[in-house]
Amino acid sequence: MPATVFVLNGPTLNMLGTREPEVYGRDTLADIEARLTARATPLGLAIDMRQSNHEGVLVDWVQEAGRSAAAGIILNPGAYGHSSIALHDVLKAVTVPCIEVHLSNVHAREEFRHRSYISPVARGIVIGFGAQGYELALDGLARLVGAGAKT
Ligand code: DQA
Repeated sequence: MPATVFVLNGPTLNMLGTREPEVYGRDTLADIEARLTARATPLGLAIDMRQSNHEGVLVDWVQEAGRSAAAGIILNPGAYGHSSIALHDVLKAVTVPCIEVHLSNVHAREEFRHRSYISPVARGIVIGFGAQGYELALDGLARLVGAGAKT
C-alpha cells in the first residue's frame, strides 16, 4: 500500500479556475489533483485531495492524517492561514510533516495576508508559484520523507 499524502485545501479553493483567475490562475483543483497523482505514483505515494470551507473540518482532517500516519500534509489553508490558531495548534499536535502552499505571493498582496499561523509549524513553505506550487511541495515532501529513494 502506498503511503498517503493528504492535500488539504481551505475556503473558496473549490472555486479555483474561475476565482480571480488573474491572481490564482485557470487550473481547477481537479487539474491540480490529476497532476499530483501522476507525479506521486512513481514515487510510491498516493494523493488524498480534499477541500473544505469549514475550519473544523480541516482540523479533523489534520488529526486524521496524524492518526493514519500519513506520509505528509500539503496544506493550502486559504484565508484560514491568516487567522486560524486552531489549525496552528492541530499541526503542532501531529508529527506528520506539513508543507504550506499558497498559489499567490501573499507577501506582495494586502498586509493582512502577510501573517501566517501555519508557517511557524510548517516543515516547508511554497508561495507564489501558482498551481505548480503543489507539485513543488510534493517533490520537496517526497525528498524529505525519502519516498521513491533507491535502497
Ligand atoms: C491563498 C492566499 C490567501 O490569502 C487567500 O485567502 C486564499 C488563497 C493562495 O493560495 O494564494 O484563499 O491561500
